Amino acid sequence: MTYQAQYEKSIQQPELFWAEKAADIPWYTKPSQILGKDEFGTDRWFIDGELNTCYAAVDYHVENGRGDQIAVYYDSPVTGVKKSITYKELQTEIATFAGGLAAKGVGKGDRVIIYMPMVSEALVAMLACARLGAVHSVVFGGFAPHELAVRIDDAKPKAIISASCGIEIQKVIPYKAMLDKAIELAEHKPDFCVLLQRPQEKAELIEGRDYDWQSLVAGAEPVDCVSVKATDPLYILYTSGTTGKPKGVVRDNGGHAVALKYSMKAIYDMNPGEVFMAASDVGWVVGHSYIVYAPLLAGCTTVVYEGKPVRTPDCGAFWRLIEEYKIKAFFTAPTAFRAVKKEDPDGLLLKNYDISSMKNLFLAGERLDPPTFHWLQELVGVPVVDHWWQTETGWAIASNQMGIEPRPAKAGSATVPTPGFDVQILDNKGNQMPAGEQGSVCIKLPMPPGCLATVYGDPQRFQSSYLSTFDGYYLTGDGGYIDEDGYVFIMGRTDDVINVAGHRLSTGEMEEIIASHDGVAECTVIGINDELKGQLPVGLVITKDGYEGDDATLEAELAALVRKEIGAIACYKQTIVVDRLPKTRSGKILRGILRSIADGKSYQVPSTIDDPASLPEIESVMADHNIGVAGKAV
Ligand code: COA
Ligand code: AMP
Repeated sequence: MTYQAQYEKSIQQPELFWAEKAADIPWYTKPSQILGKDEFGTDRWFIDGELNTCYAAVDYHVENGRGDQIAVYYDSPVTGVKKSITYKELQTEIATFAGGLAAKGVGKGDRVIIYMPMVSEALVAMLACARLGAVHSVVFGGFAPHELAVRIDDAKPKAIISASCGIEIQKVIPYKAMLDKAIELAEHKPDFCVLLQRPQEKAELIEGRDYDWQSLVAGAEPVDCVSVKATDPLYILYTSGTTGKPKGVVRDNGGHAVALKYSMKAIYDMNPGEVFMAASDVGWVVGHSYIVYAPLLAGCTTVVYEGKPVRTPDCGAFWRLIEEYKIKAFFTAPTAFRAVKKEDPDGLLLKNYDISSMKNLFLAGERLDPPTFHWLQELVGVPVVDHWWQTETGWAIASNQMGIEPRPAKAGSATVPTPGFDVQILDNKGNQMPAGEQGSVCIKLPMPPGCLATVYGDPQRFQSSYLSTFDGYYLTGDGGYIDEDGYVFIMGRTDDVINVAGHRLSTGEMEEIIASHDGVAECTVIGINDELKGQLPVGLVITKDGYEGDDATLEAELAALVRKEIGAIACYKQTIVVDRLPKTRSGKILRGILRSIADGKSYQVPSTIDDPASLPEIESVMADHNIGVAGKAV
């Protein structure tokens, strides 16, 4: 079936299309109702189906002749450890660890936070939760205790699974100390914690609260998979929104399994037994979907990498992995290859490796800038596939569909909508834009299986954040256009979300933190373009009358504050002290205009502006700092 035929069927007959794809999943009870609505009127898939995601991803393969196949290669240049785990071994590890959790009272519907570095035990912990019908919430290890505490208070976990430490380039990150601090900060306290002790830094355990991973499994009886409803939550993954409170994206079991399994062939052209690698982190959606669930649901081998694209030990790291594990499809964020390009612009290290196993190279997480696209295409000699997606969707909204019908790529485009996603460009009144014209990128409802079911504990926020702007559409928060050939171009966020080194962060949250500084009267944070990390946050700050600190001290203090509250990954360093900020007459800072100035784009001066002179003034201050020099009012 051609792409066009598959796509049209998915949009015109979604129930028929997805009922066929659902047949690929080992259900305990096959769904008879393919699409329905929940109590809040949200579309839900496979309503009366029952399954267990861990069974479909692991046990099913053991029962069907893949027990001795490698399920996971673990490769950790930062510790020098490599491991190969077969499906059978993975099943035993998961069942035993799940037994340990169950013995301590974890069961169906309980939330479990996982705060771990990139070790294979992180996958075991996630799948053990899935096995029990418990709901995991993985928190990225780069987040500071405050961020972890916010998630603890929202998810109210029965247990937290963590490790004594993580290892970044030449530094040990004390996870246990951060975990203790977060639990101290949080109002909700977990019943217990499980700690994986790593030799690089052992953690002191708190009697009666903390259990050592090894001792927990030593005394545990393996347990079987629990049947859950297709619509029961598999996990919560927090993502940055426009405020300081992250949104808990809820993913269900059934739709997720069906969509991810389908995507492995349709998008990534992967077959059972082949090797897939996503160089990301289990703390992000790419890690959830394409390090853990999708490769295993498809009976592939996944590579878990505790390292960086560069300096572990050098910028040939990705080429080495592709050769060593005979990776067929490799997936990472553009920023990772920009880091490689910076250190090895001519790709000389690639000459030391045989990467002929790789058939396609996939990039996502942020816009793939055309120079990096061209550089990669020339270097690797296989299709370089930019694909666009979000934590909320859980899989690619637009991509070159390499397993259906590959098309010629266009630099700067994520190619065509994935079957199931009715992507449309709307103007601010909700009318469809003509081809080639930019607007708000929306998805006509129903979204396909695998997309978020709700915001955890806050169905109202789900409605107001995503569904209420345009009736019948999901708002992606991205701006962009579709060209005459149907290619989707995503040009950037239209809200207060920025993307720093492939990490999604909220400028609204940074503003809240900066505003808490004694010397700050008002502030706004914008993302500015950065050659390596895509974007970097910059604060525009008005100091309080009578504040006597100098600008450099204030800048250092604000950088330290953001690092303490969000974490080093926020990369907040630059603060510009200004006399005033452009505002509306009702006192709202014109953030959209500031973003346009920073991006060097033209903008309309709104009739509601309080003082039009504030605009050239701020343009000139920003130009003095080499920010958005091309920005101009029209
Ligand atoms: N735990 C603790 N700290 C972490 C961390 C983690 N998991 N990940 C990053 N950090 C820290 C870094 O050590 C660094 O700290 P520092 O300021 O003290 O040096 C800071 O956060 C910023 O990290 P990063 O933005 O990653 O910069 P870097 O210079 O260390 O590395 C890249 C640059 C491009 C190599 C790296 O960002 C990268 O590999 N990015 C890919 C991101 C990715 O895979 N995203 C997933 C979406 S697909
Ligand atoms: P996250 O939820 O962390 O995956 O971030 C999602 C956001 O990253 C999207 O809304 C986009 O703004 C951006 N993004 C992800 N992939 C792409 C891509 N291929 N092209 C352009 N932007 C992207």
